[in-house]
Amino acid sequence: MVNKRDFITTQDFTRQELLDIIDLSLLLKKCIARGYYPPLLKNKTLGMIFQQSSTRTRVSFETAMEQLGGHAQYLGPGMIQLGGHETIGDTGKVLSYLVDVVMARVIEHKTVVELARACRVPVLNGMSDYNHPTQEIGDLCTIVENLPAGKRLKDCKVVFVGDGTQVCASLGMICTHLGMHFVHCGPDAHQLGADVRAIWEENCRQSGGSWQSTSDREAVRGADFIYTDVWYGLYENEMPKEERVRVFHDFQVNRELMQLGNLGCKFLHCLPATRGEDVTDEVIDSAASLCWEQAGNRLTAMRGLLVWLTRGKKEPLAEQTAAVKAELESFLVEKGLA
Ligand code: CP
Repeated sequence: MVNKRDFITTQDFTRQELLDIIDLSLLLKKCIARGYYPPLLKNKTLGMIFQQSSTRTRVSFETAMEQLGGHAQYLGPGMIQLGGHETIGDTGKVLSYLVDVVMARVIEHKTVVELARACRVPVLNGMSDYNHPTQEIGDLCTIVENLPAGKRLKDCKVVFVGDGTQVCASLGMICTHLGMHFVHCGPDAHQLGADVRAIWEENCRQSGGSWQSTSDREAVRGADFIYTDVWYGLYENEMPKEERVRVFHDFQVNRELMQLGNLGCKFLHCLPATRGEDVTDEVIDSAASLCWEQAGNRLTAMRGLLVWLTRGKKEPLAEQTAAVKAELESFLVEKGLA
């Protein structure tokens, strides 16, 4: 495929490309909400490799393919030769002849990198131990749809509270890339490493955004969005309950912590949540909680990403995206649905 682009990290994309993908995702959402399912993925097949279990990623990818006229194949743990005697590279080469696009949820980040290197078709990272880029696009769709009155993205403060998970790394990457103000507030021993911090720093230097990593809860003050994830982050590193409650106790998102945010501050969670640990029932079920629509925007993001990545044949992807957007917008205008 000429112009193949993989979606392994949002760092491989320009700020404008990311905004374009978010915009396309929201436009497709609008079309579908009005009953128009553009067949932009007709006759295309997605191979979905999962080395770990998943609800949101699996269901949203499969639904996105179906809604836009394509088809998805679930290749779950133990269902294909990957991880057996067939190498990752050989699996990638083979899939290039069998499907039009591949997504992989992997245990180790290097697996998805190697797969993308071997595949001639686009590969999306459906979460690794390093990052979760499709979650980033869905989260930004949710933030764009819920901007505080009078604020632009660049004016927003997003605070991730708790463990420095791959979701925290990812959220920091996209926020700093887009010139927003990002804070990770968690225990000192659970902050992200120098490699991720260096990315946030360089992004801010280029975008005018800011970042901070701290254990001081005062840093939550003034947040427009408070985000959390489970306290034991990486599947392979689960801590015993007593230990994680002791370590993360001060970083539970509860009513008191939400009150440090700005008036109208919203709550976000990538889910699954561990109710009573990382977030209280009172917050997750409150009017300030966006986490259910945030989960719905995983589907929004998957549609946009799949269309953006699979259009390429000859013209640059930006021109193709502009043509798709023009087609969708004219449909809405013609039908009086804009
Ligand atoms: N947030 C997220 O990726 O959820 P799943 O693990 O259920 O896919």
